[in-house]
Amino acid sequence: AEQEVAERLQKVMARAGVASRRHCEALILAGRVTVNGQVVTKLGTKVVPGKDVIEVDGRPLGTPETKVYVMLNKPKGYVSTLYDPQGRPKVIDLLGDDVAQRVYPVGRLDFDTEGLLLLTNDGDLAHGLMHPSRMVKETYIVKVRGVPGPAKLRALQEGIELEDGPTAPAEVKMLDVRPPNSATLSVRIHEGRNRQVRRMFAALGHEVIHLRRTTLGPLKLGDLPVGEWRYLTDQEVADLYRAAGLRLGGRPRRAGRR
Ligand code: URA
Repeated sequence: AEQEVAERLQKVMARAGVASRRHCEALILAGRVTVNGQVVTKLGTKVVPGKDVIEVDGRPLGTPETKVYVMLNKPKGYVSTLYDPQGRPKVIDLLGDDVAQRVYPVGRLDFDTEGLLLLTNDGDLAHGLMHPSRMVKETYIVKVRGVPGPAKLRALQEGIELEDGPTAPAEVKMLDVRPPNSATLSVRIHEGRNRQVRRMFAALGHEVIHLRRTTLGPLKLGDLPVGEWRYLTDQEVADLYRAAGLRLGGRPRRAGRR
């Protein structure tokens, strides 16, 4: 008889490039996954890859997918999660049907934050880039109400006490000052905590009026217009792999071109 090796559903989904294993578990719990036509919400469910038909939101899982890497200039007013209980617009919708693979965002930008968002189905890279031990540096352009003085800039550079602990030292540059109303700064951080930049400035008494991410590790947003996306170049993918401390090679992948 044929040897059948049953594996956990979320593991099979993650390997097929659906999302991280944890996110696959969330998809299962949300009732968005069927096995042989039946909705499955139990996390331990075993399936036989290549035999059981697994669908997510009605789309069948393929064989392990070609790896794709997309840079999006996220507009304000979009969530960077794949699913939003409030039904707000999703960044994934901006890719349209052009990206056949099921990609997901690496890290998050707030609903109101603009700028560089990386989307991929490469779980190894996503994991490597987001791992706290080697979280890559990100640059944000921040417009705030009021003008932070030298003592506040020093506080940002030394670390700010937030409710989840002090922030690591940030690199801060004043780019434009419009006293008394506003100032624009560049802030480089490498922690990626939830709403970190907004909370850092809130702790100093400055409301963030506009927030945009312009770099993620070696990636630069450049002149990609808001709401537009492009595939990464092979060189950019290689640079990201290096930044994440991973080796390229052996795996099917395609940086692709539009
Ligand atoms: N910091 C924030 O406050 N918001 C983001 O979206 C990203 C970083």
